[in-house]
Amino acid sequence: MSQIRKVRKAVFPVAGLGTRFLPATKAVPKEMLTVVDKPVIQYVVDEALEAGIEHLIFVTGRSKAVIEDYFDIQVELEQTLRARNKTAELTLLESILPLAGSTSFTRQQEPLGLGHAVWCARELVGNEPFALLLPDMIMKGEKGCLKGMVELFEHSGANVIAVEECAPDQAHKYGIVGVGEKIGEGFAITKMVEKPAPGTAPSNFFINGRYILQPEIFPILATQERGAGNEIQLTDAMVKLSASQTFAAYHFRGETYDCGAKDGFILANIAFALAREDIRPSVEGPLKTLVSGLK
Ligand code: UTP
Repeated sequence: MSQIRKVRKAVFPVAGLGTRFLPATKAVPKEMLTVVDKPVIQYVVDEALEAGIEHLIFVTGRSKAVIEDYFDIQVELEQTLRARNKTAELTLLESILPLAGSTSFTRQQEPLGLGHAVWCARELVGNEPFALLLPDMIMKGEKGCLKGMVELFEHSGANVIAVEECAPDQAHKYGIVGVGEKIGEGFAITKMVEKPAPGTAPSNFFINGRYILQPEIFPILATQERGAGNEIQLTDAMVKLSASQTFAAYHFRGETYDCGAKDGFILANIAFALAREDIRPSVEGPLKTLVSGLK
């Protein structure tokens, strides 16, 4: 196991097909759908930067080139803004531009599953621990989810998976972990089960889409057979790795929105809009009227 305790690199798998969001995702990647006024991917990148991540690795696929463009400068647009003295807009664009050389893009040629997408990043990650953020899950909390996970990782050296509590009757929809002894702001994971049959879940703590993994996951993914959905599953590989390495759960105390699903995306837009001082006043009243008019 790598002795490195600093998490410098983050992997963003953005090669999925986004079938739950068709037809919107026919031509626009779901990571570029907008929550209030930023694409979903920007929220996730901001969370990574807040946690001290220095290198952003995107695993993309065909028709995802717009994500690469988004993280680059747009010369004509910036020239026009400059000519029109639009300083605030220019400053905004500069503030979201990653440091030169701090992004890498690789392609997953076929969408063979999340586990396969992560494996595609192996050369770019190298032999060090890395963060993995599912870019359609966006989080809202006092402390960024990944920031809390990095602290737990630096304290424990374990692989870290973020978890949240769900209603027990919803556990069959998620990856669920078994609860062991307390470690810092979390606990040791005794078990990982992907979508347990109703009534069989070891707890109601579900995996919410954030991981810090040791590089030993890569050789396991390389030989991992296809699992559920005929895809190479990350959870299956983590279960194998847990035979030789510790996995800790970081209990994230905030809200997660699955922006890859229509309901999660709509709720994210409402929640993030209501959290914005410039938008809340014009949204709150009409929203209350809409809800009170529901039959
Ligand atoms: P999802 O389960 O959300 O799959 O993937 P999906 O294909 O993107 O969306 P649906 O279910 O068809 O609507 C979880 C994450 O893993 C990435 C996705 O981009 C998403 O961030 N992924 C999934 C890949 O990068 N490659 C894959 O082959 C599968």
